Order: sequence, then structure tokens, then C-alpha cells
Amino acid sequence: MSRQQGVLARWAEFLPVTAKTPRLTLGEGDTPLVSAPALARAIGCDELWLKCEGMNPTGSFKDRGMVVAMAKAIEAGARVAVCASTGNTSASAAAYCAAAGIGCRVVVPEGKVALGKLAQAIVHGARIVVLRGNFDAALQAVRVLAERTPIALVNSVNPFRLEGQKTAAFEVIEALGRVPHGLALPVGNAGNISAYWKGFTEHAAREEQAGRARTTPVIYGVQAAGAAPFLSGAPVAHPETIATAIRIGNPASWDLAIRAQRESGGLFASATDAEILSAQRRLASEAGVFCEPASAAPIAGLLKLAAQTPGRFRGQTLVAVLTGHGLKDPQTAIADAPPLPEPIENDFAALEKALA
Ligand code: F0G
Repeated sequence: MSRQQGVLARWAEFLPVTAKTPRLTLGEGDTPLVSAPALARAIGCDELWLKCEGMNPTGSFKDRGMVVAMAKAIEAGARVAVCASTGNTSASAAAYCAAAGIGCRVVVPEGKVALGKLAQAIVHGARIVVLRGNFDAALQAVRVLAERTPIALVNSVNPFRLEGQKTAAFEVIEALGRVPHGLALPVGNAGNISAYWKGFTEHAAREEQAGRARTTPVIYGVQAAGAAPFLSGAPVAHPETIATAIRIGNPASWDLAIRAQRESGGLFASATDAEILSAQRRLASEAGVFCEPASAAPIAGLLKLAAQTPGRFRGQTLVAVLTGHGLKDPQTAIADAPPLPEPIENDFAALEKALA
């Protein structure tokens, strides 16, 4: 017997779906939770699990929320959807618009979108506008557009996005068989941290109602040092980081993110570009998981917190959310790698010598 696929089918009872909501899916959700024992030792926790969201159909966590936002937009009669994006949201929107047979418009900041993400928006047939300005300016522009036209806005200011994304929290609890002590994730526009907290608190409320203990994880939101408004406490006018996915200075879900941090007893941390790239390499070489730079930020953050306070995570089960696949941004991944060696002649002696 085959289980129904996708976020809408699997989690319908916890989502705002009606009989009229189309059961759109590209097979999103149900991503693996991978154990990373070597990194757990480095962080000093008992267990470290990687929620590999790069295994979603378009290679990032955005698909969970996009499928719900898109289905609700179609239910409401939309014929065209729009988003501003640092890349992944546009890739996801383009794919789901293609699957649903509606038009897609994406507005991206000039010069800062990773190659794989652009390729996705192009092949899925989105109309792409490149804006002179950063993500924050692009989001402001599409919000105005959505107010003045019937085009459906599918950024995470659309509450259906957070509804879909909260299902990742349910999956983490289901896969572990318990609520982890802590969960670390990258923070950009702050939709995902808000969605996880919504998922964890909804689960806790259901447990409480069933007469069981109310348990939630401590949330660690990690930002890039050059784009860290939650650490300075105010928007950043000119965000800069190699982790272009989270190059955001004025997060839309500011209040919800602060609430997630406060209510969970968590904190915001920042990691420099060097720390992020180092964490990305360690994930690839010590855990076998290739994620994009932004997705390595939570590991960089946990390593930093562990170094600042040795023993901080002793005995704990931690989850790091790896939000996007490494193949999204191949150029950053190989930028500092040595060039490939010269080709050798195809004979055994040469091969033996080259591999010695
Ligand atoms: N990780 C990746 C790979 C992302 O693409 C994003 C956001 C985040 C983390 C941060 O999530 O915004 O909910 O705090 N990318 C958006 C985009 C902004 O346009 O693709 P957030």
C-alpha cells in the first residue's frame, strides 16, 4: 500500500485545507534526519541530527510552505503568483507554478543569486526581474504589487507558507520519537524559525491536552555576521555575506522570531563567512552531507557556542536544520578549491603513479 505523498496529504488535519483545496504535490516533505556523530563530538552534545531539507523536490525547505501557499492561492482563483527571493523561494515558486499551470513572476536582487537557483527559475519558466537593490527592497516592491494587483504573493509574509513549513517540526519529533533539547537553524527573513516554533508549540499543546508533558526545544537562530539584525536589535541597511540565501537586513517575521527565541529560552548567534564555509566543509567531509553556505550557519553557530561555553550541550540531543542543498551554489563550494589536475594518459602505470 502506498502512503499519500506530500505535505498537504500527510498533514492535512493540521493544515488550513478544505475540500476545495487542490491536493498539489511534488513529493515535498518527509526529508531524512541524518546522524552526525563526528560533529556531535566536536559540539560536545550527546546526539546531533541533521534535518536534510535539501532533499525536498526543488532542493530546499521552501517547498513545504510553497505547496500550501500555492494550493490556497489556486483555491482562491489566482492565475499568477509572485515572490521576492534570494533564490530558493523563486526556485520553489517557479516549480509549483509550473506544476499547477499558473504564471510565475520572481524579483531577485542584482548579482547575488546562486547559479543553481537561477537555473531552476529559468527552466521552470518564471519571468525573472532583477532588481537594483537587495532582498529587502525586492520584498517591499512585490508587497506593493500584490496590494495593487490580483497577483498572489507567496513570500513567507503569506501565512500559508508558515503553515506548511511547520510540518518539519512534526517530522523531527516523529523521527526522533521525542522532542529534541535544542534545534538550530539559519535565520534570514525569519519565516522558518517562526514556522518551527509554531509547529513545536502546536505539538506541545496537543500533548498537554492528552495529559502528557508539554515539551519544546530551545531554539538557536543563527545569522551571518554581516547580516545579523537580530544580534544588533535593529535592521541592517546593507547586509553582506557569502551565504546569499540569508543576505537579509530587515526580516519580515521579526516579532514572531523574537517570540520563538524568548519563549523557547533560546538565543540568536552569528557566524562569520569564514566560520560558515568551514562548517560547510566539515558537514561535507565529516558527515557526508553537502549543504549550501546558509545551511551550514547553524553548525557554525553551535560550534561557536560550544567553544565559548565548554560542556554547554552535554547530554543533549540537538537538531540542525540544513535548509538547502549544496548543489544550489556550486560556485561558492569550489571557489577556494585547487584547480583539477592535468589529465593523465590512459595506462595503468600512469594511473598508479597519479593515485599514489
Ligand atoms: N536557508 C536557506 C537555504 C534559505 O534559502 C533561506 C531563505 C533561509 C535559510 C532563511 O529562511 O528567510 O525563513 O529565515 N531564503 C529566502 C529566499 C529568503 O528567498 O529563498 P528564513
